[in-house]
Amino acid sequence: MTREGMWVVGYGLLIFKPPPLCAFKVKGSISGYIRRFWQSLSDHRGVPERPGRVVTLVLLEDLQKKPLFNGFFEDFGDTRRTVSASGLTDDALSVWGVAYYIRPEHVDTVTKYLDVREQDGYTLHTVQLHVEAADDPEAVPYLENLPVDAEGRPVITSVVYIGQTDNVSFVGPEDIEHTAHVIRKSAGPSGTNYEYLHNLVCSIRDLAPGAHDPYLEALLELA
Ligand code: BEZ
Repeated sequence: MTREGMWVVGYGLLIFKPPPLCAFKVKGSISGYIRRFWQSLSDHRGVPERPGRVVTLVLLEDLQKKPLFNGFFEDFGDTRRTVSASGLTDDALSVWGVAYYIRPEHVDTVTKYLDVREQDGYTLHTVQLHVEAADDPEAVPYLENLPVDAEGRPVITSVVYIGQTDNVSFVGPEDIEHTAHVIRKSAGPSGTNYEYLHNLVCSIRDLAPGAHDPYLEALLELA
C-alpha cells in the first residue's frame, strides 16, 4: 500500500466527473501547455466507425519543436489568429483545471481506476498546479506548507494523464471547424460528444471568475 497521499490534476472529464474516493478538490491553473480536443476516442463518446474527440494537453516545447506543428499555432485569445509557437503569451499557455487530493489508503484504488485511460493513449506525467481557489476547509492544512509562486499562490505537484503527440490516438493539429464537425456527429455509450464539450465549457466557466478557455468557447460555438 502507498504511504503518501496523491494529488491528481483534471483538465477534462475529471473536472466534472471526479475520480472515486477523493477527499477534496482545489481549483487552479497549470502553465506551459495548451488544451485541445485532439485526442480520438472510440468507446465513450464515439464508436469505432465514428470516433469522437476528447481533450489532451500539448506541451509548449512540442509546439515549438515537433515538425507536425511547423512552429506555428492557432490562438483563440482576443481574436482568432495564427501565431508563432514561440510567441505565445502566458495567458494562452495557461490551462484552468482542478486538483483532487487522494488520501494514502485510496491511492492504489484510484490509480487503478485512472490507469484504464492508458488504453486510450494517455500516459502519466507530473505537473504543477497554481491554486486559485480552495472552497473546502479540509484543503487548508494541505495547502499551508506548500511552496508559493511569485503571486503568492500555493503550488501543488501532481500527477496528470496526457495523450502525448506520439500516441496513436493523437489527431492534432486539427482545424477547429473539423473538430467541431466530428463532435457534432459523434456519440457513444457515455453520451454525445457535444454533451462532453458543453459540460467541460460550463464547468470551466464555473471554476472561478477569471476562468475561461477561448479555444473551448470557440469550439462550442461551432459545434
Ligand atoms: C482529465 O479529465 O483531466 C483526464 C483524465 C484522464 C485522462 C485524460 C484526461
